[in-house]
Parts: sequence; C-alpha cells; structure tokens
Amino acid sequence: MNDVSTYPLQSNLPLKIVIVGHVDHGKSSLIGRLFHDTGSLPEGKVEAIKAMCERRGMPFEYAFLMDALKAERDQGITIDVSHIHFRTAHREYVLIDAPGHREFIKNMVTGAAQADAAILVVDGRDGVQEQTRRHAYLLHLLGIQQVIVAINKMDLVDYGEARFQQVAVDVRDYLAGLGIDLQHTQIIPVSAREGDNIVEASKSMAWYEGDTLATALDDFQPPLAPLDLPLRFPIQDVYKFDERRILAGRIESGHLRRGDVLLFSPSGKTARVASIEAWNAKEPVLAVRAGQSIGITLDEQLFVERGDLASLLTNPPMLTNVFRGRLFWLGRHPLVPGNRYKMKLCNAEFPVEVEKIEKVIDVSDMGISTGDSVERNAVGEVVFRARRQIALDPFESNMVTGRFVLVEDYDIVGGGLISMDGYADQRAGQTVRATNIFRVEHRVPEEERWRHNGHRGGVLWMTGLSGAGKSTLAFSLEQYLFRKGYQVYVLDGDNIRHGLCSDLGFSPEDRVENIRRVGHAAALFARAGFLVLTAFISPYRSDRDRVRALAPEIFHEVHVDADLSTCEERDPKGLYAKARRGEIDDFTGVSAPYEPPVMAELRIDTTHNSVEESVAILSDYISKNFAITPH
Ligand code: ADX
Repeated sequence: MNDVSTYPLQSNLPLKIVIVGHVDHGKSSLIGRLFHDTGSLPEGKVEAIKAMCERRGMPFEYAFLMDALKAERDQGITIDVSHIHFRTAHREYVLIDAPGHREFIKNMVTGAAQADAAILVVDGRDGVQEQTRRHAYLLHLLGIQQVIVAINKMDLVDYGEARFQQVAVDVRDYLAGLGIDLQHTQIIPVSAREGDNIVEASKSMAWYEGDTLATALDDFQPPLAPLDLPLRFPIQDVYKFDERRILAGRIESGHLRRGDVLLFSPSGKTARVASIEAWNAKEPVLAVRAGQSIGITLDEQLFVERGDLASLLTNPPMLTNVFRGRLFWLGRHPLVPGNRYKMKLCNAEFPVEVEKIEKVIDVSDMGISTGDSVERNAVGEVVFRARRQIALDPFESNMVTGRFVLVEDYDIVGGGLISMDGYADQRAGQTVRATNIFRVEHRVPEEERWRHNGHRGGVLWMTGLSGAGKSTLAFSLEQYLFRKGYQVYVLDGDNIRHGLCSDLGFSPEDRVENIRRVGHAAALFARAGFLVLTAFISPYRSDRDRVRALAPEIFHEVHVDADLSTCEERDPKGLYAKARRGEIDDFTGVSAPYEPPVMAELRIDTTHNSVEESVAILSDYISKNFAITPH
C-alpha cells in the first residue's frame, strides 16, 4: 500500500478534487455547471441535452449533463472510468467520482486514490444537515485539508446575505470543531442553476466580494509531492559484499546525497553516506530522489537492520509507542480492544495492541458511533500501542510514509492513515546534547541520608484528571506527614508551571517536556532523601514510565481516580466549563487524551472516598513503604 506510483512526483499534475454533500443539495448541478462554465464539456453536449429535454417536455437541468456523461462513461465511451477532467484558465483538475462511500473511503484510506482537495455542497435553504456534518467529518477523517464550502441554491433564498452568513457560521463552527484549518477554507454563496459565482461573479449578490468557485479552486495549493517532502529512506535489506555493507531500499520521499549525515530511527544512530550504489549506474551517483530504489554504504559500521527508517538530522520522523490510526477494517473477525496484530509501516514490522476504539464510522451512511468493535468494511479511529518506540510520520505531514497496514495470520486485515492528534513526538528530550560530561558520585550514601531523616526517600507520583483531587490530597498529606516528622515536599502542576515550566503550554510536546523536567526534579529531591509528592495530570503513560525509569526502586505511581463526569461536576477552577465552550484547547479529558495507569502501585478512588479517607490510605501506604526497614 505504500505505493508511490499513485502519487504525483511533480506538483504540476492535475489537482484531484472530490465533491461531497447531502444528496439533495445540488452536487450534480454544481458539477454540470462547473464543467459547462469552464468550457470543459464536449462540443454540442448542452445543446443535445437541451433538445432532449424539449422533446420530453421537461425543464433543462445542469444535473442532466452529469448523468449523460456518466452514462457515456459507463458504456466505455469516455476513456477514464472514475476520473473526469476539467480545466480552468489556470490549471487542470480531476474530479474523483465517489461511486459509493465504501469504495471511495477504502481507496482513500488504503492509498489507491488520493483527493487533494474537496468541495462541500450545502443547500442555502436547508443549511447544515446531519449528512453535511458526516461528509465534513469524512473529509477530516481522510486528511483532506483544503476545502471549499459552496452554499448552493442562493437563488432560492433571494440571494440574501443574512441567510448566507447564518449558514456560513454554522459550517465554520462545525469545521473548526473537527480541527479543519479554516484559513484554507473558503465559503462561497453560489447558485449552480443560475450560474452565480461558479465561474462568473454573481450580479445578484453584489454584497459578496470573495472568490468564485473557479478562482477559489485555483487558489488551492498543489499537494506536496514526495520529492518536496523531507527524506524518508526505509531500509529494506542489508547486504554484505566483501568488507562493505550495503543498505538497500527505495527512497519514499525527499532527496539523498552522497555526504549527507543520516539518522536511523528508532535507534537514533547516525552516519555519513559514503557512496550511493544505484543499479546499472556507469558514473558514481551523487544524489538520488523519491521513487528510486538504491543501495548506500556508510562511513561507519553501524548495526542497521530492515525496517529502520533513515532521514536527515533535520525533519526526522516522530518517535512514539502510541498513535491513532484511521483505519479501514477488512478482517473477518471484528477488531476489538486488546487484540494484537502485526503492523507494517514501510518496511518495519512490529506487534501492536488495540488500546482503544474512539469512534466507529458506518461507511454506508457515515454514521458515527462510539462502538467497542470495528466490523468488516467499517472505519474506526483506533488508538494503537506498541511495546517499543517506533518511527513514523503522521499522514498530514507525509502521505507516503503516514500509512500503515495490519496483518493477521499472513492476511492483510486493515489499512489506514496515521494521526498523532493529541499525542506527542517522544523524540524530544531523549538525547543528551552536551559533550565532555561525566557523572560523579556523592560521598554520602543513600542509606545514611535515610537514617538521618528517619525514612526512605522516594517519589509518590500522583496522576489523574484535572479535578480528580491530586493537589488536594498531596497538600493534605504533606501537612500530615510533615507534622509526623517527614522530610516531605509537594511538586504541583499549577505551581511548577509558574516557574520551572513557565515556558510550557498544554500541547502534547509541552506536556512531555513538563513531565520530563518535573520527573528529573522529583528524582533529584528523592535522591536527596526527601519524600516527594507530585500532583501532575501527566496524561501519557510513556512519560510516567520514563520518570519511573529514573529511580525505579523508589518510584510509586498513584492513580488518583475519579471519572470524568465527577471531575467535571466538581470543576474547582471552572476550566471544564471553559473547555466545553471551546475556550481552552487541548483540555485533558475533553479535547486531549488521558491514559490511565495499567499497573499503578496504588489507586485512590476519590469519587467514593472522602479526602480524609484517601489521606488515611495514602499515609498507611507511606508508613509501610517508606520505612527504612519495610514492614
Ligand atoms: S500536565 O498535563 O502537563 O501534567 P499539569 O498537571 O502540569 O498538566 O497542569 C494541569 C493544570 O493546569 C490543571 O489542573 C489545570 O488547572 C491547568 N490547565 C490549564 N489548561 C489546561 C489544559 N488544556 N489541560 C489540562 N489542564 C490545564
């Protein structure tokens, strides 16, 4: 499925567009009109259909043009079966016909077809309908970023500006909620029947000063061709010839030059390209590009294996062990959480587990539900988890490498697009930049510090949703323990974000960095002999695991657990209400993920326990686990 041949290598190929919208909102008329007004119809076609209408005593409609073209196409008269071409003065377009949702979605998700942009047609009288929403969601699901919204049938609402604005606001709200970039979205009032704002600017809507449909289409950016993207060279094989090791594979995107320093992911090793060995090359090859199959040698003997992904040091792929797939499911058995599959990403293969099904989309009507299984021929938004770090690109940034295939018992059971929405690149902060640094040992042994304090040092890491009670418990516990003579200190999210982490927000990357810094601070405190209580949402499991790895024998993870509805009811800072109103982005539990611990040392249910009861459980845990000689 990672087949570059279906993608244009140059950017001057026709732009592929798809037209979606409610069945009755005038798609066919719009297409007919667009073809007619751009002069893209065969000679005499309109006249022939007009004559036919007259004979049958029915009014002419532009939609008939499309039916006629389709009929010819079905008889094999026009050449291309699923693509119809038209052109504006500026460039050529291909209209991808969506014969049915299922085929279209399957082709898009698996890479057999790719639309670069879309027109969403909305009836000016009916406004945004359920089907409009579903189709808009489909565009989002398929990673189509460039969208024109044509508010059609403006002639039937007296070309009224107020009505147009009303529908436009609804559309904008819905698209923004989906995360579609509104900067690239034009909303245009049109009448396909009368030809207003299709190619000719409307005379009946003088209040509208924006683009016509045709000029808006011409404003679309051609998709970034694989050549224009950062280098991705997945290693397919490693051959040993005499002393040399040749790394072979196909360049999926970008360029590679002799002398480039390559970064191999996920290992993070680097080496310089010593030579490029292209098959049948007479001259030494200095550079190769996307689409070419080649071999290279390196200036150092690295252990590189099939599946490693080579890039340049700038713009490397992301590293993560959790990501979301927008998946088309082909398997005979439904996909359910907990199932394991083999995932193929370029040449890499690794086991993944289905962690969570976020949405299930019925492709026949695009109905969206929150099911707990994805049946054959359905689409799902699914969170996958791998045991080790994998190198990948989200589909948005690389449509060649941003795809995956799932395999079960040698059969392909699914394929889809990778999304990292809400998840962070875990590459950041994993490498030490400074050189010439050496660790030195303290001369005060840990046990001596413990004896001095009368208890062990360590970290009690509280994780949970905002409003679950982390800070409340941490500060109560701190007071209680301090009075009992403990060296104890709380590190709390809201406090730390005023200082050590004041440069960080709540994007996935910033949260990773927040927890990385706090984790190190907590580990240092703990090594100094303190009992550190931390109160951070710390939504990602991988971050908490990394903190644990800093001081595994003295790290204790506590899940401060209250369900979302309880936290939302408490809403101590009024933040949930704000988040629901769309005033806070990336709010945990609302618009950003929370991954609960799977093997926490302790779970405190704050929905059912009072603060006093919870503190009692915690202090009991501490006296058992932080005594110098454990109970
Ligand atoms: S973490 O995700 O990086 O661990 P942290 O615990 O430091 O978050 O900060 C969470 C606190 O910041 C919350 O209790 C809340 O008061 C505030 N906050 C502000 N914006 C957000 C947001 N988008 N998501 C979650 N918490 C937020």
